[in-house]
Amino acid sequence: MPRLLVVEDDSSVRSTIATFLELEGYSVDAVASTREALERLGAASYPIVVSDIYLDDRTGLDVLAAARRGNPSCAVILMSARGSIETVMAATQGGAFDYLAKPFDLDDMLAAIQRAEASRLDPADADSSIDDLPSTSMIGSSAGMVDVYKTVSRVAPTDATVLIEGETGTGKEIVARMIHSNSARSSQPFVPVDCASIAPALLESELFGALKGAYTGADRDRPGVLESANNGTVFLDEIGDIELNFQLRLLRFLQEREVRPLGSTRGRKVNVRILAATNRDVQKMVQDGKFREDLWFRLNVVRVQLPPLRERHGDVPLLAHHFLRLYNDRYRQETRLAVSGLKALEDYSWPGNVRQLQHLMERLVLLAPQGRIDENAVQDGIHMTSPRDDPGDTLAGAEADQIRKVLAATGGNKSRAARILGIERKTLYRKLERMDLD
Ligand SMILES: Nc1ncnc2c1ncn2[C@@H]1O[C@H](COP(=O)(O)OP(=O)(O)OP(=O)(O)O)[C@@H](O)[C@H]1O
Ligand SMILES: [Mg+2]
Repeated sequence: MPRLLVVEDDSSVRSTIATFLELEGYSVDAVASTREALERLGAASYPIVVSDIYLDDRTGLDVLAAARRGNPSCAVILMSARGSIETVMAATQGGAFDYLAKPFDLDDMLAAIQRAEASRLDPADADSSIDDLPSTSMIGSSAGMVDVYKTVSRVAPTDATVLIEGETGTGKEIVARMIHSNSARSSQPFVPVDCASIAPALLESELFGALKGAYTGADRDRPGVLESANNGTVFLDEIGDIELNFQLRLLRFLQEREVRPLGSTRGRKVNVRILAATNRDVQKMVQDGKFREDLWFRLNVVRVQLPPLRERHGDVPLLAHHFLRLYNDRYRQETRLAVSGLKALEDYSWPGNVRQLQHLMERLVLLAPQGRIDENAVQDGIHMTSPRDDPGDTLAGAEADQIRKVLAATGGNKSRAARILGIERKTLYRKLERMDLD
């Protein structure tokens, strides 16, 4: 059992903590002032320090700094009855392992100490690294991805219509952008249209435009996307979601390359390249009579099929390190990925594909204990994103902590924080309200 240093000026709290921890089998050095604490830290190295924040002329933050200076892997648990966003922020930035609001259950403190012990460096679990991490936007060198690159490089310079298929999060939109940026149209607009999120009734005017008075609320002529993207590329995302009668309209356009705005009798020629994407099995939809076969042939001049991540596990290390670097830079962190963490990432099945891996890495860069992503951190992270019911009481504290850390890192941006935490924005609002009540 490691030897702990406890720093607490209130003598009854100090002896309660010391006695409790000794009964749990730890050896404890308990001191009452920052001066004594700094002396002890100068004389010996402690793996775990538990310190009050408001002590005397100096604070627990000074103890934190001294402890981490003497032993960078020291886990410091701070506690305070007067916590505020400022002190929590200073503690987090100073590398505190955890933060306990007083009064707390001794069992909660024990749990924090046990977590600190569990996360102490396993000498056999080194940091993983990768030589020559590519700096391109599309990562992956598995056979399946190389096939994609081959097709993309051959088809990009042409004006051919391309249908990009793949499960959610496999990178369909990046492929569309790559095709555009490697074509002669690259200096012209690239306009994505999410066919699934636009109401069917509005999709027609969105794409083809509408003249003033064509429908209630059309107070002026509005050009459609196909016209404003003239000479560029239009990316029709979620093409499998459009209604049958609109499919016919789209087919006409692909045949004639003319747009006729709503309310107009005359068509205008436009020169746009169409790229389309879907995560549905359109071929099956054709068989079931839900997608027009003639439109399917028109769109399907060239087909790019993005393999799911579980079929290219070999790309996980590259992707993981790519996102590690991305988010370390963005959030000014120095989080490392342990060999055991990488192994856990490789073993997972990734139903949400690259997007899920990306979000998990973003979260772990910010939240991994001691700035190190090991197997436990990965498992906890995956667990957090998988759908589950509201956490029980024991989880609530840890969760509130994570929410605070993520909000601090995102400068209070709630949408971003919700995304990193893997919850919906309205869920985050609800949790924040509840935290306020506590
Ligand atoms: N090979 C890759 N290399 C780097 N980043 C990737 C790769 N594939 C996907 N991503 C990233 O994953 C996220 C999801 O990718 P994208 O939006 O292209 O997926 P999608 O296939 O369009 O998914 P959906 O069907 O849900 O719209 C993006 O942030 C993208 O940058
Ligand atoms: Mg997409």
